[in-house]
Amino acid sequence: MGNRSTFGSKFGAITAIAGSAVGLGNIWKFPYVAGENGGAAFLIIYTVITLLISIPVLLAEFTIGRRGQSNAFRSFVNVAPHKGWAAIGILELLGAMFILSFYCVIAGWSLEYIWQSAEGGFAHMTQAQMDSQFNDFVASGWRPILWMIIFLILNAGVLCLGVSKGIERCSKFMIPALFSILVMLAGVNLWQPGFAEGAAFILEPDWSAVTGQTIIKALGQSFFSLSIGMAAMITYGSYIQRQESLVSVSVIVSLATVLMAVLAGLAIFPSVFTYHVPVTSGPDLVFKTLPPLFAELPGGYVISILFFVLLFFAALTTSLSIMESLVAFFTEELRIARAYALMIGFGLILICSTFCALSQMPDSPVMIGNLSLFDWTDSFSSNYILPIAGLGCVILVGWFVPKTVVEHELTSSGRYPLWVFKFVLFMMRFVCPVVILFMFINGIIH
Ligand code: TRP
Repeated sequence: MGNRSTFGSKFGAITAIAGSAVGLGNIWKFPYVAGENGGAAFLIIYTVITLLISIPVLLAEFTIGRRGQSNAFRSFVNVAPHKGWAAIGILELLGAMFILSFYCVIAGWSLEYIWQSAEGGFAHMTQAQMDSQFNDFVASGWRPILWMIIFLILNAGVLCLGVSKGIERCSKFMIPALFSILVMLAGVNLWQPGFAEGAAFILEPDWSAVTGQTIIKALGQSFFSLSIGMAAMITYGSYIQRQESLVSVSVIVSLATVLMAVLAGLAIFPSVFTYHVPVTSGPDLVFKTLPPLFAELPGGYVISILFFVLLFFAALTTSLSIMESLVAFFTEELRIARAYALMIGFGLILICSTFCALSQMPDSPVMIGNLSLFDWTDSFSSNYILPIAGLGCVILVGWFVPKTVVEHELTSSGRYPLWVFKFVLFMMRFVCPVVILFMFINGIIH
C-alpha cells in the first residue's frame, strides 16, 4: 500500500472533509433544530459538545484510517489487536450504504428542482400547490429515479478521476462556491421585513429553551453533521497526509459546520418569517415551503436556481465521501481496478436507491414496520449504526490501540502539542463511551 492516494494539500483535505460533513443535514435540519432549541444558546452548546465529545470520536475514526492506510474494513484489521474489531468496519460500511441509498434520491430531487426553477416554476404558487406538485413528483416513480440515476452518474464521473484529481478538485471548487452562494442568499435576505425576526430565531440566545434533551439533540446533530460512524471519515482519514494535524483539520471542519448552518439559517428564515408561514425542516422546508418564497425575492428567478444548486453541491460532496468508502472497499478487498469497483458500487446503490424511491410511492409494498424503506434507512443508520460504530471506534482507539501509536497520529509524530493528545485520549477513554451509551439508550427509549 506504499503509494496509496492522498489529498494533495491541507486545503484540499479540509474542503473534501468539510464537503462530506456539510450536507443536507446542515442545510435543512441544523438551523431548524438550533432555532427551536434556544438559537445561539444551542449553537454554543453544540460547539462545546462538538469540541469535547464529537471531535474525539472523529479523531478516533481518522486515527483508524490514517494508521490503517486502507478502507474502512481493512483499516480495523490493520490497527486492532484482534480481527473481530473489523465487524465495526463492516457495520460502518453498511451504514454508508443505507445513507447513500436515500441521499441519492434526495439529491435527485434537488436536480429536478434546479430544472423546475430554471423553467420559472415557483412564482405565485400557493403552499397547497407546492405540496401537491412535490407529492405528485415523488409519487410519479420514474422521474425521481431518472434524476437519481443522473446524480449517480455525476458521482461516478468525479470518482473515476480519483482521490486528488476527482474528489479533492471537485470539493475545492464546490465548497467555496457553496459558501459564496450561502453568503449571497443571506445578503439578499437583509432587505426582507422578516430579517430581524429570522436572524433572532437562530442567533438570539434563549437559555430558557435549553433542557437535558437539548444537549442530546446537540450531540446527535453534531455526530450526524460530522459524518461519524458511516465509514466516510475512516476512508478520508486514510487519505490525509502524514504531516497534517488531524486535530486542526477536525476543529476547522467542525467550525465550518456551525458557520454553514448559521448562514443557511440566515438564508432561509427571514423569508419564512416575512410571509408568516410555519417553520418547517427537512424536505418539506426546501421543496415545499421555500421555493415560492424565494421566487418573491428580488432576483427571485436566479435565487431559486442558486438555492437548488447549493443543495446539489452539498449533496454531491457528501455522497462522494460515502461512495468513495464503498469504492475503496471493493477495490482493496476484491483487488480489482477502481473502475470495476466503481461499477459495483454504482450498481449496488442504483438498486438500493431505486427501492428507496419506489417506497415513496402511494401504497408502496417496500415497507419495514410502519416506515417506508426510505425513512427506515435514514432512522436505522442514525439511531443504531452511528452510535454503536462510534462507540466501537473510541473504545478501540482509547483502550486497545497502543498509546504510542495514538500519540504518533494525534501529534503527527511530535509536530503538535502533547497536551492535546493527552486530553483527547482522556475523553476517548472515559467520557465519550459513557456519553454515547447514554445517548444511544435515550434514543431507544424516546
Ligand atoms: N454529514 C452529512 C449531512 O450533514 C450527512 C451524513 C451523515 C453523512 N452521516 C454521513 C455523510 C456519513 C457522509 C457519510 O448531511
